[in-house]
Amino acid sequence: MASVGLSGPPSSGASRTRSRSRGRIRRSGRSDESEPHESHGRSRRSRGSDYSESLDPRTVRLFSWSQLQHCTNGFAEAAQVGPQGGFGIVYRGTVEEREVAIKVMRGALTADSSKQFVAEVRTLSRVHHANLIRLIGYCQEAGRCVLVYPFYPGGNLCDRLFNLPVRGAGAGGSAACLPPLGLAERISIGYQMAQGLRYLHFGAHPPVLHRDIKGTNVLLDGGAGTELRAVLADFGLARISEQVFDTQQDVLIQPSCLVGTEGYIAPEYRAGELSPKADVYSFGVLLLEMMTGRTAREPALPSTGTKWQTLPEWVKSIHECRNLNIVGTVVDRSLRCDLTRCKNGEQMVLEMLLLALQCVEADAQLRPNIDVVEERIGHIMNLQR
Ligand SMILES: Nc1ncnc2c1ncn2[C@@H]1O[C@H](COP(=O)(O)OP(=O)(O)OP(=O)(O)O)[C@@H](O)[C@H]1O
Ligand SMILES: [Mg+2]
Repeated sequence: MASVGLSGPPSSGASRTRSRSRGRIRRSGRSDESEPHESHGRSRRSRGSDYSESLDPRTVRLFSWSQLQHCTNGFAEAAQVGPQGGFGIVYRGTVEEREVAIKVMRGALTADSSKQFVAEVRTLSRVHHANLIRLIGYCQEAGRCVLVYPFYPGGNLCDRLFNLPVRGAGAGGSAACLPPLGLAERISIGYQMAQGLRYLHFGAHPPVLHRDIKGTNVLLDGGAGTELRAVLADFGLARISEQVFDTQQDVLIQPSCLVGTEGYIAPEYRAGELSPKADVYSFGVLLLEMMTGRTAREPALPSTGTKWQTLPEWVKSIHECRNLNIVGTVVDRSLRCDLTRCKNGEQMVLEMLLLALQCVEADAQLRPNIDVVEERIGHIMNLQR
């Protein structure tokens, strides 16, 4: 069993060198959208006085590296949750009889970046919403940058949609697949995610852009049906990567992931234009995944001459074919029973698909804001009553 031990998890040095040469994402739009954590337009360098403010231990706890090492069995491979993500490695541990997820970020902190990290943690610790993961604490010892969150036992949305084993869900803590999500559960997850995202865009001061919305960042608790609770994870991490580690776009684009962040990136964001509508695009892809049971992009047919076909492209092509019944053609096979079993099942799927297609409009101006999306999903949910 490999352990991280004293040397800590592998650093991202090589990838960071690569990313620097690619150039920083150019930002546009209003200053509060493009620099969500930057208050009053102050630059990173001019915020020195902020760093001296200590974090409130009642809202966010400072952990020691040895404490975290102890509760993860020396950062044992067996304690690792899922494959490594773009920002770091997640371990499962127990602190005071409570299950936690410990995210050890890639990269090493310097004295300066350590202060910046604490400033970012302070911002994250102020974000509170039932559908956003809560930050329990952090660790910034010996150059390491660690965030501690509650552990979610129901796996992530990808695990559940694509029938992947969830660590700890089986007998004796082994990995096991959990039952597929029903239509009402999927719509409820969409609604909960829209609520969390609305808070980030319109309720948080300053607003926060997520920039990495995707299935693995939607975490589920152990509930089912109306008791199923979902939270959005990893908001603020894109900002930490940039501000603390000076890591750029390639951390956000992870072609190695199962679904791949690649399929979630809005066209204008890829070109460097960042706004809340980029999150709305990714959210639309998430809705499409939930309705179709297909991943954000899949290998294209050889005859098309392209390597990948994105999910929005596939659904749009069927929607444009007037002789095809869109619901019957694209709906996830495991939702077929719910089309007839749920009251207005077919109409709910149709409306979710049409809403998702608006969210993935190529022109960002044509996409709705997330508060409108939330309201629309609320109406769709009511169709089953
Ligand atoms: N608090 C948590 N509780 C349970 N599982 C978690 C928690 N946080 C993360 N995970 C799971 O740990 C795994 C790794 O997560 P991580 O966030 O590092 O990678 P990712 O989501 O695939 O990519 P990214 O780095 O872009 O977020 C994923 O399967 C994720 O769903
Ligand atoms: Mg994640």
